[in-house]
Amino acid sequence: MTQLADNFTILALETSCDETAAAIVRGGRDILANVVASQMDMHERYGGVVPEVASRQHILSLSPVIQAALQTLPGGWNDVDAVAATHGPGLSGALLTGLNAAKAIAWQRGLPFVGVNHLEAHIYANWLNEHPSSDGSHESPTFPLVALVVSGGHTLLALLRNHGEYELLGQTRDDAVGEAFDKVARILGLGYPGGPAIQQAAQGGAGGSSLPRAWLRDSFDFSFSGLKTAVLHKAQERQERSATLAPSRGERIQRGKAAKATPPAQTPALDDAFVRQTAFAFQESVVDVLCTKTVDAAQRYGASAILLAGGVAANTRLREELVRRARVPVRFPSLALCTDNAAMVAAAAYYRFETGVQSSWDLDVTPNLRLGM
Ligand code: KG4
Ligand code: ZN
Repeated sequence: MTQLADNFTILALETSCDETAAAIVRGGRDILANVVASQMDMHERYGGVVPEVASRQHILSLSPVIQAALQTLPGGWNDVDAVAATHGPGLSGALLTGLNAAKAIAWQRGLPFVGVNHLEAHIYANWLNEHPSSDGSHESPTFPLVALVVSGGHTLLALLRNHGEYELLGQTRDDAVGEAFDKVARILGLGYPGGPAIQQAAQGGAGGSSLPRAWLRDSFDFSFSGLKTAVLHKAQERQERSATLAPSRGERIQRGKAAKATPPAQTPALDDAFVRQTAFAFQESVVDVLCTKTVDAAQRYGASAILLAGGVAANTRLREELVRRARVPVRFPSLALCTDNAAMVAAAAYYRFETGVQSSWDLDVTPNLRLGM
């Protein structure tokens, strides 16, 4: 254990997916800069992240993002004590850009360097000095803790016994929650990313039929692909029904002009009420399973608090319901710190440096890096 100075200042980079981010965090808690350049617009037209496009854009954005972060330090580079970057999990090409930039900076300036697990970083957003827990406390969480990490690529429950000591309690067997939100949004004709679109559509969608829940009894694992397929079948049935009820475009044209060739009938768009009710039922199903398993895990392992993390932690229904059901305080980062950013990478790095961990120059990217065992 190394006692770090209160003003120990870390420059961290995050490029695991489609956000190019740089942050400066002091003492593992105080955010001096948190700059995020999103590539969302670029990937929107493809309905998902295109790895090649992401890597190229990271290369273009990294330098301006780092410069913008550094401007918050009066002494510039001289005020930076250490450097960190995400080295996995994520897209290999995208990870390489941030990891190599961070290693080059650290080597050139003779600074300590550490590679950070992106999943661990999401959890450490809860140590940043900006949010109270559901009981109003601003203190650092105390171990043992149960963390629910829900993002576009991951869904897992972990037991945290101490800094760096994790036990994986369960994870998804198929789709990640965020991925399910994105796929269901696409089925319903909502935008990308699907999470915020579904959350918005679900407002006022109560009252329809419910959707199944995959409980996977006696396990903390999750499964969301069956739920996604159930939504797909419902949407197809709805479209078939409206196609048989309404005259097709071809029929309407034929009635007017008998001799013209019939164009193929188009798939009818899903009606607004159906989209709202299905978005609501989908969100309820996901939230029910996530909350039930997280509350059970916290109780079984005597957790002092529950930490919510990852992009889907931005979901207000999930937050509300977890707080309502949990018997211990629930902590979640502010909306901006739930989705990918580098401040969370700096927070995780701080506790690594404190336990004396540093990475060597040959640290490589690990696209499938896991959390715990
Ligand atoms: O953690 P993150 O920014 O990136 C990954 O590491 O994957 O998570 C992105 C995911 C996307 O799937 C997005 O749809 C989801 O988080 N998301 C939400 C909400 N905001 C973002 N899901 C549900 N409700 C939201 N409000
Ligand atoms: Zn993430």
